[in-house]
Amino acid sequence: MSSLTPIRFTDTDLDAIATAEGRVAVLVTPDGRLDAAARRASKLTRGALQRLVDSDRFAKAKPGQVLTIGWPTGLAAEALDVLVLERNASPVEARKAGAKLGALKGGKPALVMTGSMKNAADLALGMVLRDYRFDAHKTAADAGEAPAESVICHNKSEEIAAAAAPLLAVAEGAHFTRDLVNEPANVLTTTEFANRLAEMKALGLKVEVLEEAELEKLGMRTLLSVGQGSDSPSKVVVMQWEGGEKGTAPLALIGKGVVFDTGGISLKPAAGMEDMTMDMGGAGVVAGVMRALALRKAKANVVGLVGLVENMPSGNATRPGDVVTSMKGDTVEIINTDAEGRLVLADVLWYAQDRFNPAGMVDLATLTGAIIIGLGHHNAGVFSNDDPFCNAFLKAAEAEGEGAWRMPLGQDYDDQLKSRIADMKNVGGRPGGSVTAAQFLQRFVKDGMPWIHLDIAGVASVTSDTAFAPKGATGWGVAALNRLVADKFEG
Ligand code: BES
Ligand code: MN
Ligand code: ZN
Repeated sequence: MSSLTPIRFTDTDLDAIATAEGRVAVLVTPDGRLDAAARRASKLTRGALQRLVDSDRFAKAKPGQVLTIGWPTGLAAEALDVLVLERNASPVEARKAGAKLGALKGGKPALVMTGSMKNAADLALGMVLRDYRFDAHKTAADAGEAPAESVICHNKSEEIAAAAAPLLAVAEGAHFTRDLVNEPANVLTTTEFANRLAEMKALGLKVEVLEEAELEKLGMRTLLSVGQGSDSPSKVVVMQWEGGEKGTAPLALIGKGVVFDTGGISLKPAAGMEDMTMDMGGAGVVAGVMRALALRKAKANVVGLVGLVENMPSGNATRPGDVVTSMKGDTVEIINTDAEGRLVLADVLWYAQDRFNPAGMVDLATLTGAIIIGLGHHNAGVFSNDDPFCNAFLKAAEAEGEGAWRMPLGQDYDDQLKSRIADMKNVGGRPGGSVTAAQFLQRFVKDGMPWIHLDIAGVASVTSDTAFAPKGATGWGVAALNRLVADKFEG
């Protein structure tokens, strides 16, 4: 498991600028105003910093950018990073700027002189979010080494530390999600996944693992039909955080946890199939949110449910054309065994409503390739039957800088799922593939139950660096859902 870069908040100490090892960062406003720390750094470097500020390069720099002076005279540090930023930068701006510093950190110690900056806690969050690496399977000498500490100096460090604490819980949740999503499928089997979730009992979460026999009894045939070709047993894990008032209906978070998706008998092409280790991304985000809520002791009731299965071809695998009965009782004609995520979610959605009668449900799934065609890697697809609930989520996602775009639902799309021999088919053809997938899920949402479906196929794992994550798993959604809980489910 990768751990967060340790971060410490201390009162401003200008003398530390000269002696700090690794990297030192100071703030300069876009119009070139130096604070006390920047003035000290300029003096120590015999005016090098001021010359940078007077240069063309600085004039062209955009707010949030970092300009680096390497091996600066007068400083023990190997780099002086000049962060071009207003002192009252917004939380998202501060976070993005922090992420720039986090990207540069590279395991070295860092001292960040934030002076009287308003949103320095968000800067700290951006820094730790971006400062992530997954080296569990690297044998190099420095792999697995704990990263060196970041020190944030601020004129009111106690205030900033207090504001940062719940934010750092979110970063830890997002790192947990990334570790799960980056892990290969021979390591993160359904059993290993369940074990890692069970370990969160230590944080005060209730965690139950439902095994196949139990799922069989509950009638979760659509979920079991996906896993039946695999040697790894299918499981449903239920994580409960009861930080709110006793008896208040929880928010339910439901995640697709396909630890590997070969497509089953409707086998995927070889090229790129290795990416399907991330097909448990929805479950990974649910786990990360639950971790963040527990770490910051959220005053809300939230239950996370994940369906853990592996989609493999074998002599016992589901065939195209098979008909299975869901826990709800509806029958599904499985036209394509590669449309398996919806089969997993159908039963978990139903179980969540049956057992918890939640105040609302959000499901997350790397559900369709079509959503990547539609929205690329910048926005998750958002589908909902409830405008206020949906708008609350979109607002939370925007505030966290996580891309989310609403997509339609409607009867015409639902009609594409009609089956000749069963209650529905599991695919609706190529047109509107992400919407028909969402329609399939909606058939397992009770009337009047506020519900949001997030198709995260494009955002869960990416091939180039993003603002808050290096390439690979992003942890998209942990921050937005944490905020949705804070905004709408905490007293
Ligand atoms: N896990 C895939 C969707 C996916 C594709 C996630 C690319 C991440 C990146 C899903 O199970 C799937 O195979 N969907 C099919 C559905 C089709 C058979 C109706 C798809 O999108 O092609
Ligand atoms: Mn599939
Ligand atoms: Zn899948």
